[in-house]
Amino acid sequence: MTYDVLILGSGIAGLSTALAAAPRRVAVLTRGQLGEDGASRWAQGGIAAALGDDDSPALHARDTLAAGLQRNDADAVARLTGAAAAAVAWLERLGACFDRDEGGQLRLGREAAHARARIVHAQGDASGAEVMRCLRAAALAAPHITRLEQHEARQLLCQDGRVVGVRACGAQGEREVLADHVVLATGGIGALYRYTTNPPESDGSGLALAMRAGAAVADMEFVQFHPTALAPASDAGGQLPLLTEALRGAGAVLLNDAGRRFLLAQVREAELAPRDVVARAVWAELQRGQRVWLDATQAVGGDFPRRFPTVFAACMARGIDPRSMPMPVVPAQHYHMGGVRVDAASRSSLPGLYAVGEVACSGVHGANRLASNSLLEGLVFGRGLGALLAQARRPPRGERGRSGAALAPAETSADGDTARARELADLMWRHAGLVRDGAGLAQAGATIQAWQRQWSAPPLRGRLAVARAIVAAAAQRRQGIGAHWRADDALAQAG
Ligand code: SIN
Repeated sequence: MTYDVLILGSGIAGLSTALAAAPRRVAVLTRGQLGEDGASRWAQGGIAAALGDDDSPALHARDTLAAGLQRNDADAVARLTGAAAAAVAWLERLGACFDRDEGGQLRLGREAAHARARIVHAQGDASGAEVMRCLRAAALAAPHITRLEQHEARQLLCQDGRVVGVRACGAQGEREVLADHVVLATGGIGALYRYTTNPPESDGSGLALAMRAGAAVADMEFVQFHPTALAPASDAGGQLPLLTEALRGAGAVLLNDAGRRFLLAQVREAELAPRDVVARAVWAELQRGQRVWLDATQAVGGDFPRRFPTVFAACMARGIDPRSMPMPVVPAQHYHMGGVRVDAASRSSLPGLYAVGEVACSGVHGANRLASNSLLEGLVFGRGLGALLAQARRPPRGERGRSGAALAPAETSADGDTARARELADLMWRHAGLVRDGAGLAQAGATIQAWQRQWSAPPLRGRLAVARAIVAAAAQRRQGIGAHWRADDALAQAG
């Protein structure tokens, strides 16, 4: 099986790349059905684009840099915000139905830390599902795209220092899939944390493949936590329903058990403060033994099913009617700003290997991602990479993959031992979560190293490698910045 381009993952980044790479022969390898894996379809926030008369890509870039605490790559940010309007228009041409006002204009929402109303949504809180519906339909109809569904990439194949394909496992057993260019679009790392808004397949598998093959990674310590996931009914961890930030944008408030809006006393913007600030405030209340509630009964009330149908359905499934009841919340891991380090052309440090979307660290997010910039990143950089690959020269014959290419010593994290995966997620939640300190990170690092000696199952070893890299980067960065909050540093500053 030999292709021009092999893409691992079929979320927004993977399918945008695949579509834009026409007429090259592209294979998309995905764990489930095309377009149905990964976090993209769960996204409730929309796509940020400077479409309003009072807005510009430069203003959008300014907000992105401010959210990222200026740790972003300014050129990458300019490319992202400059291409946003065209990316939205492309999706509309593919059939995406975004919300419009009475005059037929795109309805532009405002989210925390955006200075202008610039968020395009679909059906209120179902933006990711709508975008993926269109991309999937387009990919299914595209003759240049081959689907390798129900496949798990197990190892990267390397030949003379170049990545030339993968060894993958599917219903028919193991096979080699060779390609001139291999693209990682495998998403994030939510499954490494006790609570996450990501689906279980966001387990860092692509990152683990790349790391084991020797690709450089960057910004691993920057992990974003969302302040409001629906609190679980039981002790079970895993994916929790997201209660979109747009609810707070619409006026919903956060209360503790005493019915007090605790954020009012802490930060001027209260519930609309930056995401990391709100998430840590919620965490602190929970640490004090309080429960935390998101109350939209006044702000949204009877309009809930129409304005936030996804959240409404998730709450009702739990027996909570958000029109009349506050929703219990916990913070949850939401997004990884770090990942496989890539250049302006989405190239990793390994020839033949590229990365786009959440698995990549393109530098656009810096220390903290601005809301609604993640679908945008997958879309813009996916399309950009696809267009480059459509034009790319073929590697010389001697550099193309031959069957039997050497295996990079890579492992993936699927089908892990559930109890051990849970132990790791608990450890990461406690020590490499919203609030970190040197002692906790040292303990987490030592525990992970011990598990690396004891746990032999290859699926778990990928998770351990990624977790270890996050913990090591977090331990090394002693000063808190953005999503990387060091309690010991904050204490030293205060003293
Ligand atoms: C949300 O809807 O609250 C999440 C938006 C995002 O993460 O960009």
